[in-house]
Amino acid sequence: MSASDIVVAITGASGVQYGRRLVDVLLQAGRTVHLVISPAATQVCFEELGLSVNLEQFEPQHFLEKELDPATLARLKYHHYQDFNAGIASGSFRTAGMVICPCSMGTLGSLANGMSTNLIHRVADVHLKERRKIVIVPRETPLSSIQLENMKRLVDAGAVILPAMPGFYLRPESIDDLIDFIVSRICDHLDVEVNLTKRWGDPTR
Ligand SMILES: Cc1cc2nc3c(=O)[nH]c(=O)nc-3n(C[C@H](O)[C@H](O)[C@H](O)COP(=O)(O)O)c2cc1C
Repeated sequence: MSASDIVVAITGASGVQYGRRLVDVLLQAGRTVHLVISPAATQVCFEELGLSVNLEQFEPQHFLEKELDPATLARLKYHHYQDFNAGIASGSFRTAGMVICPCSMGTLGSLANGMSTNLIHRVADVHLKERRKIVIVPRETPLSSIQLENMKRLVDAGAVILPAMPGFYLRPESIDDLIDFIVSRICDHLDVEVNLTKRWGDPTR
Protein backbone atom coordinates (compact mmCIF):
# COMPACT_ATOMS: atom_id res chain seq x y z
CA MET A 1 0.00 0.00 0.00
CA SER A 2 1.14 3.52 -0.73
CA ALA A 3 -0.64 6.86 -0.73
CA SER A 4 -0.02 7.03 -4.48
CA ASP A 5 -2.06 3.88 -5.25
CA ILE A 6 -5.14 4.40 -7.42
CA VAL A 7 -8.31 2.30 -7.50
CA VAL A 8 -9.94 1.79 -10.90
CA ALA A 9 -13.39 0.23 -11.10
CA ILE A 10 -14.89 -0.80 -14.43
CA THR A 11 -18.66 -1.22 -14.47
CA GLY A 12 -21.21 -2.29 -17.06
CA ALA A 13 -21.63 0.88 -19.10
CA SER A 14 -20.61 1.24 -22.70
CA GLY A 15 -17.00 2.34 -23.16
CA VAL A 16 -14.98 -0.25 -21.25
CA GLN A 17 -12.12 0.79 -23.55
CA TYR A 18 -11.79 3.97 -21.47
CA GLY A 19 -11.21 1.94 -18.30
CA ARG A 20 -8.84 -0.49 -19.94
CA ARG A 21 -6.75 2.31 -21.42
CA LEU A 22 -6.77 4.15 -18.08
CA VAL A 23 -5.32 1.10 -16.29
CA ASP A 24 -2.60 0.84 -18.91
CA VAL A 25 -1.72 4.56 -18.72
CA LEU A 26 -1.62 4.62 -14.90
CA LEU A 27 0.63 1.55 -14.79
CA GLN A 28 2.96 3.08 -17.36
CA ALA A 29 3.02 6.28 -15.27
CA GLY A 30 4.45 4.20 -12.43
CA ARG A 31 1.31 3.93 -10.29
CA THR A 32 0.04 0.88 -8.48
CA VAL A 33 -3.49 0.21 -9.71
CA HIS A 34 -6.14 -1.67 -7.73
CA LEU A 35 -8.62 -2.99 -10.28
CA VAL A 36 -12.21 -4.13 -9.62
CA ILE A 37 -14.53 -5.20 -12.45
CA SER A 38 -18.29 -5.76 -12.12
CA PRO A 39 -19.97 -8.80 -13.72
CA ALA A 40 -21.95 -6.53 -16.06
CA ALA A 41 -18.67 -5.02 -17.27
CA THR A 42 -17.61 -8.46 -18.49
CA GLN A 43 -20.74 -8.59 -20.67
CA VAL A 44 -19.87 -5.20 -22.14
CA CYS A 45 -16.25 -6.33 -22.65
CA PHE A 46 -17.51 -9.24 -24.68
CA GLU A 47 -19.91 -7.12 -26.75
CA GLU A 48 -17.54 -4.23 -27.39
CA LEU A 49 -14.14 -5.89 -27.51
CA GLY A 50 -14.91 -9.57 -28.13
CA LEU A 51 -13.00 -10.22 -24.92
CA SER A 52 -13.97 -12.93 -22.41
CA VAL A 53 -12.97 -11.79 -18.92
CA ASN A 54 -13.01 -14.37 -16.12
CA LEU A 55 -13.51 -12.55 -12.81
CA GLU A 56 -12.85 -15.74 -10.81
CA GLN A 57 -9.47 -16.43 -12.42
CA PHE A 58 -8.52 -13.01 -13.68
CA GLU A 59 -5.63 -12.86 -16.15
CA PRO A 60 -4.27 -9.28 -16.28
CA GLN A 61 -2.28 -9.64 -19.45
CA HIS A 62 -5.30 -11.13 -21.24
CA PHE A 63 -7.40 -8.13 -20.18
CA LEU A 64 -4.93 -5.38 -21.05
CA GLU A 65 -4.49 -4.24 -24.62
CA LYS A 66 -0.71 -3.88 -24.54
CA GLU A 67 1.99 -6.32 -23.48
CA LEU A 68 3.56 -5.01 -20.27
CA ASP A 69 6.88 -6.03 -18.75
CA PRO A 70 6.61 -8.14 -15.57
CA ALA A 71 7.69 -5.30 -13.25
CA THR A 72 4.97 -3.00 -14.58
CA LEU A 73 2.37 -5.76 -14.53
CA ALA A 74 3.25 -6.50 -10.89
CA ARG A 75 1.82 -3.09 -9.96
CA LEU A 76 -1.63 -4.22 -11.09
CA LYS A 77 -3.55 -5.60 -8.08
CA TYR A 78 -6.81 -7.27 -8.99
CA HIS A 79 -9.66 -7.56 -6.45
CA HIS A 80 -12.80 -9.65 -6.92
CA TYR A 81 -15.98 -7.53 -6.82
CA GLN A 82 -17.31 -9.49 -3.83
CA ASP A 83 -14.10 -9.43 -1.78
CA PHE A 84 -15.04 -7.12 1.09
CA ASN A 85 -11.87 -8.30 2.88
CA ALA A 86 -9.71 -6.48 0.34
CA GLY A 87 -7.52 -3.75 1.86
CA ILE A 88 -9.11 -1.09 -0.36
CA ALA A 89 -12.47 -1.73 1.39
CA SER A 90 -11.13 0.07 4.46
CA GLY A 91 -10.58 3.77 5.08
CA SER A 92 -7.28 2.88 6.74
CA PHE A 93 -5.91 1.75 3.35
CA ARG A 94 -4.39 4.90 1.87
CA THR A 95 -4.85 5.76 -1.80
CA ALA A 96 -4.46 8.78 -4.05
CA GLY A 97 -8.00 8.30 -5.30
CA MET A 98 -10.50 6.20 -7.17
CA VAL A 99 -11.93 6.29 -10.68
CA ILE A 100 -15.09 4.51 -11.81
CA CYS A 101 -14.70 4.28 -15.57
CA PRO A 102 -17.08 3.76 -17.19
CA CYS A 103 -19.75 4.12 -14.52
CA SER A 104 -23.18 2.60 -15.22
CA MET A 105 -26.36 4.29 -14.07
CA GLY A 106 -26.88 1.30 -11.77
CA THR A 107 -23.60 1.87 -9.94
CA LEU A 108 -24.23 5.63 -9.96
CA GLY A 109 -27.60 5.09 -8.27
CA SER A 110 -26.09 2.78 -5.66
CA LEU A 111 -23.37 5.29 -4.81
CA ALA A 112 -25.77 8.25 -4.64
CA ASN A 113 -27.85 6.32 -2.12
CA GLY A 114 -25.09 4.77 -0.03
CA MET A 115 -26.06 1.23 -1.09
CA SER A 116 -22.90 -0.79 -0.66
CA THR A 117 -23.60 -4.22 -2.16
CA ASN A 118 -20.27 -4.93 -3.86
CA LEU A 119 -16.62 -3.94 -3.46
CA ILE A 120 -16.91 -1.14 -6.02
CA HIS A 121 -19.72 0.53 -4.04
CA ARG A 122 -17.88 0.00 -0.76
CA VAL A 123 -14.60 1.51 -2.00
CA ALA A 124 -16.48 4.48 -3.44
CA ASP A 125 -18.28 4.94 -0.10
CA VAL A 126 -14.89 4.91 1.60
CA HIS A 127 -13.46 7.53 -0.76
CA LEU A 128 -16.46 9.78 -0.21
CA LYS A 129 -16.42 9.47 3.60
CA GLU A 130 -12.64 9.91 3.76
CA ARG A 131 -12.97 12.93 1.47
CA ARG A 132 -10.54 11.54 -1.04
CA LYS A 133 -10.51 12.14 -4.74
CA ILE A 134 -13.16 10.13 -6.59
CA VAL A 135 -13.71 10.58 -10.30
CA ILE A 136 -16.89 9.10 -11.76
CA VAL A 137 -17.13 8.69 -15.54
CA PRO A 138 -20.82 8.08 -16.28
CA ARG A 139 -22.06 6.92 -19.64
CA GLU A 140 -25.69 7.06 -20.69
CA THR A 141 -27.75 9.13 -23.08
CA PRO A 142 -30.19 10.77 -22.69
CA LEU A 143 -30.30 11.23 -18.92
CA SER A 144 -33.38 11.05 -16.69
CA SER A 145 -33.98 13.47 -13.83
CA ILE A 146 -33.20 10.61 -11.43
CA GLN A 147 -29.79 10.08 -13.01
CA LEU A 148 -29.07 13.82 -13.04
CA GLU A 149 -30.09 14.10 -9.39
CA ASN A 150 -27.83 11.16 -8.53
CA MET A 151 -24.93 12.95 -10.19
CA LYS A 152 -25.73 16.15 -8.28
CA ARG A 153 -25.80 14.24 -4.98
CA LEU A 154 -22.40 12.76 -5.70
CA VAL A 155 -20.89 16.13 -6.66
CA ASP A 156 -22.29 17.56 -3.42
CA ALA A 157 -20.61 14.69 -1.55
CA GLY A 158 -17.25 15.56 -3.12
CA ALA A 159 -17.06 13.43 -6.29
CA VAL A 160 -15.94 14.72 -9.68
CA ILE A 161 -18.42 13.79 -12.41
CA LEU A 162 -16.40 13.53 -15.62
CA PRO A 163 -18.77 12.26 -18.31
CA ALA A 164 -17.41 10.19 -21.17
CA MET A 165 -17.94 13.13 -23.55
CA PRO A 166 -14.77 13.67 -25.54
CA GLY A 167 -14.26 17.09 -27.13
CA PHE A 168 -13.70 17.39 -30.86
CA TYR A 169 -11.84 20.72 -30.84
CA LEU A 170 -8.44 18.99 -30.91
CA ARG A 171 -9.46 17.32 -34.19
CA PRO A 172 -9.30 13.63 -33.21
CA GLU A 173 -8.27 11.30 -36.02
CA SER A 174 -9.19 7.98 -34.42
CA ILE A 175 -11.23 6.33 -31.69
CA ASP A 176 -7.97 6.04 -29.74
CA ASP A 177 -7.68 9.85 -29.81
CA LEU A 178 -11.20 10.15 -28.37
CA ILE A 179 -10.40 7.62 -25.64
CA ASP A 180 -7.16 9.39 -24.77
CA PHE A 181 -9.00 12.71 -24.50
CA ILE A 182 -11.07 11.31 -21.63
CA VAL A 183 -8.21 9.34 -20.06
CA SER A 184 -6.04 12.46 -20.12
CA ARG A 185 -8.73 14.53 -18.34
CA ILE A 186 -9.10 11.80 -15.70
CA CYS A 187 -5.32 11.80 -15.14
CA ASP A 188 -5.40 15.59 -14.75
CA HIS A 189 -7.89 15.18 -11.91
CA LEU A 190 -5.69 12.54 -10.27
CA ASP A 191 -2.56 14.73 -10.62
CA VAL A 192 -0.92 12.03 -12.73
CA GLU A 193 1.42 13.53 -15.33
CA VAL A 194 0.71 12.14 -18.79
CA ASN A 195 1.28 13.43 -22.28
CA LEU A 196 -1.43 11.66 -24.26
CA THR A 197 -3.09 14.44 -26.20
CA LYS A 198 -2.65 17.91 -27.50
CA ARG A 199 -3.80 20.64 -25.15
CA TRP A 200 -5.73 23.69 -26.20
CA GLY A 201 -3.49 26.74 -26.22
CA ASP A 202 -0.20 24.78 -26.12
CA PRO A 203 1.84 26.02 -29.12
CA THR A 204 4.40 23.20 -28.74
CA ARG A 205 1.92 20.47 -29.77
C1 LIG B 1 -23.63 -4.14 -24.03
C2 LIG B 1 -24.20 -3.41 -22.86
C3 LIG B 1 -24.07 -2.03 -22.80
C4 LIG B 1 -24.59 -1.31 -21.71
N1 LIG B 1 -24.41 0.05 -21.69
C5 LIG B 1 -24.81 0.74 -20.62
C6 LIG B 1 -24.56 2.15 -20.54
O1 LIG B 1 -23.94 2.75 -21.42
N2 LIG B 1 -24.94 2.80 -19.42
C7 LIG B 1 -25.58 2.16 -18.39
O2 LIG B 1 -25.89 2.80 -17.41
N3 LIG B 1 -25.87 0.83 -18.45
C8 LIG B 1 -25.50 0.11 -19.53
N4 LIG B 1 -25.74 -1.24 -19.60
C9 LIG B 1 -26.56 -1.86 -18.54
C10 LIG B 1 -25.74 -2.19 -17.29
O3 LIG B 1 -24.69 -3.10 -17.62
C11 LIG B 1 -26.65 -2.80 -16.21
O4 LIG B 1 -27.53 -1.80 -15.73
C12 LIG B 1 -25.91 -3.43 -15.06
O5 LIG B 1 -26.84 -3.86 -14.08
C13 LIG B 1 -24.92 -2.49 -14.41
O6 LIG B 1 -24.29 -3.18 -13.35
P1 LIG B 1 -22.96 -2.62 -12.67
O7 LIG B 1 -23.20 -1.20 -12.36
O8 LIG B 1 -22.81 -3.46 -11.43
O9 LIG B 1 -21.84 -2.85 -13.59
C14 LIG B 1 -25.24 -1.99 -20.66
C15 LIG B 1 -25.34 -3.38 -20.72
C16 LIG B 1 -24.83 -4.08 -21.79
C17 LIG B 1 -24.95 -5.58 -21.84
